[in-house]
Amino acid sequence: MSIEATHDAVVTPAAPAQAVIHPAWVRVTHWINALAMLVMIGSGWQIYNASPLFPFVFPGGITLGGWLAGALLWHFAAMWVLAVNGLVYVALGLATGRFRRKLVPIRPGEVLADAKAALTGKLAHEDLSVYNAVQKLLYVGVILAGVVIILSGLAIWKPVQLQELTAVFGGYDAARYVHFFAMAAIVGFLVVHVVMALLVPKSLRAMILGK
Ligand code: HEM
Ligand code: HEM
Repeated sequence: MSIEATHDAVVTPAAPAQAVIHPAWVRVTHWINALAMLVMIGSGWQIYNASPLFPFVFPGGITLGGWLAGALLWHFAAMWVLAVNGLVYVALGLATGRFRRKLVPIRPGEVLADAKAALTGKLAHEDLSVYNAVQKLLYVGVILAGVVIILSGLAIWKPVQLQELTAVFGGYDAARYVHFFAMAAIVGFLVVHVVMALLVPKSLRAMILGK
């Protein structure tokens, strides 16, 4: 029996009780991840400002750490939280079968149809326990972006000790760009994700209370 099924049985002893949509491990790891990501983004922007890759910098008010050294301290502290928490989420997602049940298969035709329905305001949100094809694609995509940002981050953190990893990204400079674009993808996801959570408040409620 999966961990999730055991959990459901424990928290819903009486028959008519609503089924749990997000078990506690999903909710706890999700919110730890959200916090760690915000710290990584804010401190990352401050690090970027010390030596910009592009002809722009991030406004000081939305960065974290005050200056380069302060930002690096935040970045290197929160990265452990992010990486360990992410490992727990992915391990349980695979072990409990949640990823298999909720995130796959992703069929291109369904993604197009659901995207069209979403943009014309016709997408149903009645059953929060089933993700539509666009949600599946975005969630799998952001999980993969999380893997890429952690690996590219390690590659630019220890480019000498982890030189094989750095080489996989095409060297230090290329790994820096990969790291930056993975950040941009995650921030882009986050904007859409938070807007959707606010447009469908019961989904936010379920991610906090479980149902
Ligand atoms: C295990 C996870 C991570 C590690 C080890 C890591 C490591 C690093 C390191 C060493 C730098 C400094 C690069 C330099 O000196 O130029 C850096 C920069 C940066 N990080 Fe991370 N990072 C991680 C995760 C993240 C995450 C999750 C985000 C945001 C979603 C992020 C965003 C950034 C940004 C925007 C920069 C500045 C880019 C640049 O100008 O090179 N990092 N990171
Ligand atoms: C702080 C802002 C955030 C809010 C308000 C928020 C809200 C939510 C809500 C309401 C859900 C359930 C939505 C649904 O039924 O589709 C959800 C799921 C999810 N969120 Fe977030 N989220 C935030 C940050 C993040 C971040 C930073 C990431 C990753 C970079 C993320 C990744 C995910 C993933 C992968 C799921 C699906 C989890 C699963 O079912 O296993 N979220 N979020």
